[in-house]
Amino acid sequence: MDKFHIVGPTRLAGRVRASGAKNAALPALAATLLTEEPVELHRVPRVRDIRTLCRLLVHLGMSCDEREDGALVLRRDKPIEASADEAPYDLVKTMRASVLVLGPLLARYGHARVSLPGGCAIGVRPIDQHLKGLEALGAEVRLSHGYVETRADRLRGARFRFDMPTVTGTENVLMAAALAEGTTVLENCAREPEVVDLANLLNAMGARISGAGEETIVIDGVRGLGAARHDIIADRIEGGTYLIGAAMTRGDVTLEGASTADLAPLLDKLAEIGATVETGPEGIRVRVDGDLQASDLDTAPHPGFPTDLQAQYMALMTQAHGVATIRETIFENRFQHAPELMRMGADIRVDGNGARVHGPTPLTGAGVMATDLRASACLVLAGVAAEGETVVDRIYHLERGYESMELKLQSLGARVARWVVPAA
Ligand code: EPU
Repeated sequence: MDKFHIVGPTRLAGRVRASGAKNAALPALAATLLTEEPVELHRVPRVRDIRTLCRLLVHLGMSCDEREDGALVLRRDKPIEASADEAPYDLVKTMRASVLVLGPLLARYGHARVSLPGGCAIGVRPIDQHLKGLEALGAEVRLSHGYVETRADRLRGARFRFDMPTVTGTENVLMAAALAEGTTVLENCAREPEVVDLANLLNAMGARISGAGEETIVIDGVRGLGAARHDIIADRIEGGTYLIGAAMTRGDVTLEGASTADLAPLLDKLAEIGATVETGPEGIRVRVDGDLQASDLDTAPHPGFPTDLQAQYMALMTQAHGVATIRETIFENRFQHAPELMRMGADIRVDGNGARVHGPTPLTGAGVMATDLRASACLVLAGVAAEGETVVDRIYHLERGYESMELKLQSLGARVARWVVPAA
């Protein structure tokens, strides 16, 4: 279990390029199950979750080749009959997004058996909406021995309304509906940019989808999908993490290759608390000269403030003047970074799904433990801003979603080193 060793404080300054979005690349990889023809994906981030899904796809009879230009090319290698149609527990338990193969397998092969993901560090995270959506398209769904088993001769288009906007739920049902007979109307869909990116890929493969990015998505089912080449969008959460780092350390960072529109909820917030935000062809520049002012925050589905930046925002608020109340409305257990920040000197009171951060408080380096992907990122930022040495343990969480984080931070001036801990 490697660790990050950080010596602070450092003012982050310079330019950094956003990687491709993990949460767009994952459904894009799953979508390649929908066709027999090769799909070429560019800007796939080299992070652990992507490797996990590639392993699952190979298990499902696909080949996943990395070309010299960095593209990943996925194609069916073995007929599905010769490979298992199942996503086993061992793979799904390490990454919930494995459930994204359910819709494509069912639509393309008429059956799928996928391990139920179970809870995780940030909450219970059921998949009932994925299953209800597939049932609405005519699938038979059965739960047995910890697995979801689904079956359908051919899915039929239908009207379905999600009880709440769910990102991977929308993606799963969208992929299934792409090959259903007739028209599907999905209501109360997740509007995240990653859903739009998936719809763009599916359309490039020959699907007929309109309305992605809005609450209602209409899908005219087609009989088959073909080859495509697609560029994954920039990771707004990864990029947003560096911009928060810039603000937190009173730095000056330009993020290259990211979408201003996708980052708008964060950029508006950074401007509100006193950062200077400039956008242009060069990238998105965030710098702070004076004091930061505390500001309340509620996480919300897109276009609200993303839950995946809530932990980093909490770290930022420890350096702002005043009291910030942060309410986490998406996941029920996503404040595990708060006690670790408190060990570094933060003044935070957690009460249910709310946390009050009193700032500014000087942070001091400490040994801290990462509990999930975004909590780890928050602790790394805190370490960069803190006086002295911080050791962040269990950075495998970080490696699930941040490409070359220590190198990117080093390029911005941070003193971060990876401690490789040999297996016992
Ligand atoms: N929900 C249900 N039933 C369902 C599906 C969702 O009750 O069938 C609930 C969830 O428990 C949660 C809310 O609906 O309270 C929204 O969850 P959602 O389904 O949107 O989350 P997800 O699709 O499982 C994706 C991202 C997460 C991100 C959330 C919210 C991927 C692979 N994961 O998860 O990313 O936090 O959307 O934006 O896209 C991360 O990258 O660190 C991460 C956790």
